[in-house]
Parts: sequence; structure tokens; C-alpha cells
Amino acid sequence: MDDGSLDFKAAAAAQAWSLPIEAVNPAQAHLFAADAFWPIFERLRKDDPVHFYDSDTYGPYWSITKWDDIMAVDSNHQVFSSADGIVLQTLESKIEQEKRPRGSSFIAMDPPQHDVQRKTVSPVVAPSNLAALTPLIRERAGEILDGLPIGEEFDWVEHVSKELTAMTLATLFDFPQEDRRLLTHWSDMFTNAPGHGPAKSWEHKREQADACFARFTELWNERVNAPPKFDLVSMLAHSPETRNLPMVDFHSNVVLLIIGGNDTTRNTISGSVYALNKNPGEYDKLRANPALIPAMVSETIRWQTPLAHMRRTATQDYELGGKTIKKGDKVLMWYVSGNRDEEVIENPNAYIIDRERPRQHMSFGFGIHRCVGNRLAELQLKILWEEILPRFPQIKVVEEPRRVHSNFVKGYEQMKVIIPARN
Ligand code: HEM
Repeated sequence: MDDGSLDFKAAAAAQAWSLPIEAVNPAQAHLFAADAFWPIFERLRKDDPVHFYDSDTYGPYWSITKWDDIMAVDSNHQVFSSADGIVLQTLESKIEQEKRPRGSSFIAMDPPQHDVQRKTVSPVVAPSNLAALTPLIRERAGEILDGLPIGEEFDWVEHVSKELTAMTLATLFDFPQEDRRLLTHWSDMFTNAPGHGPAKSWEHKREQADACFARFTELWNERVNAPPKFDLVSMLAHSPETRNLPMVDFHSNVVLLIIGGNDTTRNTISGSVYALNKNPGEYDKLRANPALIPAMVSETIRWQTPLAHMRRTATQDYELGGKTIKKGDKVLMWYVSGNRDEEVIENPNAYIIDRERPRQHMSFGFGIHRCVGNRLAELQLKILWEEILPRFPQIKVVEEPRRVHSNFVKGYEQMKVIIPARN
């Protein structure tokens, strides 16, 4: 029974420790959905930190599971290229992808193209723009919270996490606010395999992707001949580095920004409520001292690790941890494991909101691809909690959340909560 029950978790743990090491496969989406994958990474960090596995679903790939080795890969883009993709694709989705013209977003590029395209959009998350966004995010967070039912069960993911992040993302794109939940919907369509989340089939995914691309093509056409404005579509349509790119590349950058600006922050928002419920002593600390909010946000980002891994491809043979990674091999940096590396982080499985160095985590990656939106993510979380604490003494998680079926997006599909009372 793979439902996250204790029996299932115990069986998964026993298997993780008893399999011959060469048979250990960390990329099993159903184990992530059941929160039962942790022992695999404990085993790999201990017994085989640079690990090779040839999977029927994904083909062969390396798993890097310790902090220092992940840093070595992430900060060496000459040897570990992003140009062949940054996630572990199933063989089935690769076949599907090859049926259609394919673009590239800058997360899946190396210098120099990566650098110039990243520069094109980064002003949207510059400190001055974050300062300008702050009152808007605060007002929206307040409105969302004031609209929540008291004493009644509801889904926190749906009503808070998705709502706030969709509003922010719509502002960044200057996408009509009334249609903002289309962004969330498309994000879920892109990240889910058929049969999971809202994606029913490959055809359904294709249809929805086409609808998204048609809508963004319209926005591009409106903005390309209008005076430049300060939104992501205008930036991409006007910058000399991106305005002449094929439409498929624009679409790929849209997908990157939709997923980057949405899923990750959404899952951290849900993760913060979940983690504080699992650790009531930490929730007490936070209530007693709201100055801990920024540290709590960082600790949640580490503890949650909203993107479990990023992938690279070796451009040459390379020795790591006594193994030879061959040119062309796929290499996964498992941030979710690096963040629990007991040699670097003290008591790494514990959620402790007043750690000495709360920003010591690898959830945003390192090197030239380090998350461009990291300060915006932190800002949304910080503001939301600054607005929650004076309103509600408690947000109670009433049952185990339903988790995303993915070894990449580590998050929550649904989390039922109840707010017993207002302050
Ligand atoms: C807690 C929230 C977030 C997490 C955990 C997260 C995580 C990451 C990670 C792991 C990477 C790749 C790092 C690497 O390869 O070294 C990344 C890149 C990126 N993220 Fe985020 N992200 C978050 C929020 C955001 C937000 C709010 C935005 C958009 C506004 C965003 C936009 C991007 C973009 C555009 C890239 C590509 C950067 C590049 O290739 O240079 N992310 N993010």
C-alpha cells in the first residue's frame, strides 16, 4: 500500500537499507508522494555518495547526495552543462517531447546565452522592484487571510498557497489578475505526468500547453510594438538579447517563469504550516517572537527543499568521489539530500527555526543558475507570516497532506487545515 502509512514507510526503509547498493534507485516518484524516500538518501550518503543507477523509466543516471559533491557539480558549469536539460525525464516523456518543435529556456542553457537571457528578466526581482511589490503583496495576503473560514475545514493549498503566488506571478507577467489561476493550472499541467495532478493524458497536456502558449503569444504581440513596460513579457519582447528568439524559446522561458515563480513558493508556504504543526515547540517560539519569521522562512525552505534535484550532463570525463563520470552522463544533484547532510548541517532532520545560520541550505542551488527569484520567494513567505501571526493564534493541520507525485517538485497537492479562532 503506497499511501504514506507507517507500514509502507517502514517497508520502504527496510528495502532502502537491504538492497544491494547497485539496485538503489532514488528517483521513484511514488516514494516522494508517500514521503518514504528519506532512507534511500541516508543510505546513499553513507554507502555510495556518488551513485550510478540504470533505470527502466529514466535510463542511466548518477546521483550526487552529499553537500560538498553537489557544490562541486553545481559550481562547475564548464564540466556540468545544463544545455541538455535540468530534470530527469522519463523515456516516455522524451519520446513525447520529440514529436513537437522544441525551445529552450535559459535555465537549460550554458553561457553565454544563459547569462544574457537571465540578465533580461532579473530586473523584475531587483531589490527596488521587491520594495515596490511589498505593499501589494501585504495587502493581498491580508485579504486572502481575512476571507478564510473560521472553525471550518478547508484546503490551505487551494485557498492560500496557490492564491498568493498566482497573484504575485500575474503581477510579474502583467497577466490579467482575473485569469491568474490559469497560471497555477498551467504550472500543474507542465509539472505533472499524465495520470497525476490535473494532467489526464499526453494529449491533454499538449492541449493545455498550446492554450498557454497561445495566450502568451497574444501578450507578446500586444507588447512587442508598444512602449517597453516593466513586466516579464515586455522585457523578453523588447530586450535585444531575446526579442529575435524563435517563439518556441519565448514559450520555454514562460514555462520556466511560471513553474519557478509558482510551484516552489507555493509548496514552501504549505510546508511552513505543515512543519510548524509537526513541531509545535517551534510554532510556540514563533508566536512568542515574530522576529524569528525570516529565519523560520529559511529553515522551511531548507527543510522542505521544494525542488528535490537539478540535473546536469557531463561535458567530459570527470572524477568525483572515486568514481568516473563519463562524458555525456546525466548527473543529478539531489538538493533534498544535501540539505540533510549531517556532516554539514547539525541535526539536519530537525526543523529548528532559530538555527545559527538559517540561510545555510542548497534549496536555491549554487553557481550561475542559482535561483533568480530567491528573494521574492522569501519576501512572500515573510509577509504572509507577518500577516498570519496577528490574526490567528493557530492554523491546525487536520490530516496528512496529499503530496505531489514527482521526484522533482517536492510539495503538496492538498492540505486540510482548520483555524479554530481569530486573535
Ligand atoms: C522557495 C522558492 C524557490 C525555490 C526553492 C527555487 C529553487 C530554484 C532552483 C533549485 C533553481 C536552480 C538552481 C541551480 O541550478 O543551481 C532555480 C532557478 C530559477 N528560479 Fe527559482 N526557486 C524558488 C522561487 C523562485 C521564484 C519566486 C522565481 C520567479 C520569480 C524563480 C525563478 C527561477 C528562475 C528564472 C531560475 C533559473 C535561473 C538560471 O538558470 O539562471 N524561482 N530556482
